[in-house]
Amino acid sequence: MARKPMMAANWKMNKTLREAEDYAAAVIPKAEDAGGVDVAVFVPFTCLNEFARMTADTPVIAGAQNFYFEDSGAYTGEVSAPMLLDVGARAVLIGHSERREIFFESDEMVAKKTKRALDAGLIPVVCCGETKEERDSGGMWDKIQAQIKAVMDAVDGDLDPEKIIFAYEPIWAIGTGDTASPEDAQDAIGQVRGLLEELRGEGFAGSVRILYGGSVKPENIAEIMSQRDVDGGLVGGAALDVESFGELVEAAK
Ligand code: 13P
Repeated sequence: MARKPMMAANWKMNKTLREAEDYAAAVIPKAEDAGGVDVAVFVPFTCLNEFARMTADTPVIAGAQNFYFEDSGAYTGEVSAPMLLDVGARAVLIGHSERREIFFESDEMVAKKTKRALDAGLIPVVCCGETKEERDSGGMWDKIQAQIKAVMDAVDGDLDPEKIIFAYEPIWAIGTGDTASPEDAQDAIGQVRGLLEELRGEGFAGSVRILYGGSVKPENIAEIMSQRDVDGGLVGGAALDVESFGELVEAAK
């Protein structure tokens, strides 16, 4: 089954509210022109309300970069799925390597968040990926497999493949300029799809989207997107500038 490409921007901890407004205004026409490509932008909590308001009723998918799996209560500093929905988010990044490495999010926590996002009606973009050491020592697949299995064990058996997205982001390629080769991206993403087929069958695995992230830029996106199992990009640095992000959206068409 044909999978719709997606180009997703992850702003990480960047942009003021004013900058978010300028970006929203500029990205809307690009998404309207994007033809068969889904355009998503994952913004900081402080910008989410306004960004989602400005992009409501447009093809731009407004998303958050994190949340906590409980709905309310004594969790100082956290934001819940109902809160994200309340301000207009439609998707959320889960288990980004920066959350896992800097904020110690475990596979178990990522799994709980994914389940909660799905139950709430948010599209989870579940991230996985290995460190340089894990790749060099041959432990890459064990790591990725554990990350994916934890999530798939936690979610319902009849999960609709259109309601979840995966992203393979090798940690050594994030923010380093050192992109995975198109073959390495295909190899890892192909393996993730193979694992999903083992766990959920061909119909699910053939329809679910898997993005690549890690130093994606306008110069390398075409080659990465040309790989059989790669359905799009999750982009940090090169998506901060809306014109550069627009070039990536164009290239994904
Ligand atoms: P860069 O595109 O800056 O390497 O970041 C990738 C990433 O982490 C997106 O989530």
